[in-house]
Amino acid sequence: MGIFGNLFKASGNATKADMSAIGTDMHSHLIPGIDDGSDSLETSIELIKGMQALGYKKLITTPHIQGEFYCNTPETIMPGLQRVQRELAKQHINIELQAAAEYLIDDKFEQKYKSGELLTFGRKHLLVEFSYFNEHPRWRDFFFDLQIAGYNLILAHPERYSYFFREFAKYEEIKDRGVLFQININSLTGYYSGEVKKMAERFIDLGMVDLAGSDLHNAHYLQALQQASSNKYLRKLIDSGNLKNHTL
Ligand SMILES: [Fe+2]
Repeated sequence: MGIFGNLFKASGNATKADMSAIGTDMHSHLIPGIDDGSDSLETSIELIKGMQALGYKKLITTPHIQGEFYCNTPETIMPGLQRVQRELAKQHINIELQAAAEYLIDDKFEQKYKSGELLTFGRKHLLVEFSYFNEHPRWRDFFFDLQIAGYNLILAHPERYSYFFREFAKYEEIKDRGVLFQININSLTGYYSGEVKKMAERFIDLGMVDLAGSDLHNAHYLQALQQASSNKYLRKLIDSGNLKNHTL
């Protein structure tokens, strides 16, 4: 039966899981075979069915675009999206699926945004991530250029950049520059680490979170997400009224 078959049996009550209050997920890796997310069309469909069962109505999937590791472009992403959409239609799975990208702020990023339009969603919203290892020395320049060009920046999983943990003022600076914060829902359960969990909770306590994302890569993430649906900090975040997922 595999992990998908057992997914909703695990909690004993599938109806408990409910992300319908969030509605739109705007961070995931569901295009098969182009990054470290879904590895096949079949897996993509199973993951999407799992998201639908959790209550999501719309998914904006965001394949990695990272230096030499994931050299994705609209030419690799959009045909993949259409392939998944065709299969959803064939199986009569009624959920809206769009695609954009998750851009890594690295040395090659400047060339990308200077040579053409980037993949966005909503009102020119752009999902960007930092390296997990060190602060990029020129992120301020990049953010400035992008904001002048009219992009609405969303920083993916700020709670996962451990080099900022002792420099909280940097987070405040990023927010003050008008960048939206998207936390990973799974961070709230300790899926990544206790420190990441604490940082996500701190952002929620301070009202700094604008968006909640799944960052769904595979069935393990989906299983964790189901458990996170009853998390009290996720409740607090939803009840805060700060979430903008439904506007995308
Ligand atoms: Fe991601």
